Amino acid sequence: MGLPRTIAVDGPAGSGKSSVSFAVAQRLGYLFVDTGAFYRAITLLALRQGIDPADAERVAALARAAEINLSGDLREDGRQYTLLVNGEDITWQIHSPEVDAHVSVVAANPGVRQAMLDAQRALAARGGVIMAGRDIGTVVLPDADLKIYIDATLEQRAERRYRQRLLAGEEADLATIYEGLRRRDMTDSQRDVAPLLRAPDAVYLDTTSLSLDEAIEAAYQIVLAWARQHQHLDEDKGTAP
Ligand code: DC
Repeated sequence: MGLPRTIAVDGPAGSGKSSVSFAVAQRLGYLFVDTGAFYRAITLLALRQGIDPADAERVAALARAAEINLSGDLREDGRQYTLLVNGEDITWQIHSPEVDAHVSVVAANPGVRQAMLDAQRALAARGGVIMAGRDIGTVVLPDADLKIYIDATLEQRAERRYRQRLLAGEEADLATIYEGLRRRDMTDSQRDVAPLLRAPDAVYLDTTSLSLDEAIEAAYQIVLAWARQHQHLDEDKGTAP
């Protein structure tokens, strides 16, 4: 049974798309590409070099010069991928609160997006890839074999983040998390370049009332349904083995 070579997964922050995509990638033996990590890497580089993340020219130049390498090396420390930038492993550093606070402006920079587009498409070209982000089905891989749009209500996404923080032993305030997510939703969907959009040919998966395991199973079933459907199409065309 043929599987989709490339799977594009989009959705808002906190929808569970990274956890779901990673788990599905593990089941299929695919590479999980978290495209948010690319924007986070450039944000981290800018902050380290004392460059204002809002300085579009300088940050775009930084993005063009950066050598970003994402691989499926899991190192058994809970990571979902390994991200090397200019040879340095920054997989964990890119999730700091400082990067969180500045990544939206970097992701809205057209020069940065152009530089990242080439790197992301190169990764997808080898196939066996599940790529998650905001504009994968619409801009990065408009010809992806399968597109999934993962969604959940803002209330549910805030609640999940809140519980994650408490579980990690961090301090958390539900109202602040809710407001932060609401603002990021707005920036991500209203920006001029590559806004968060549901591709018309994406399968919609609402995870609001699903547990993580149920969401993973639902996404996996979408992949299997694609494979079954394409097997029938091939049989109808007489091209099946
Ligand atoms: O998914 P994340 O929280 O790691 O994303 C970080 C930021 O990058 C967030 O502001 C959305 C943005 N992003 C984007 O603009 N396009 C993508 N394909 C992935 C992430």
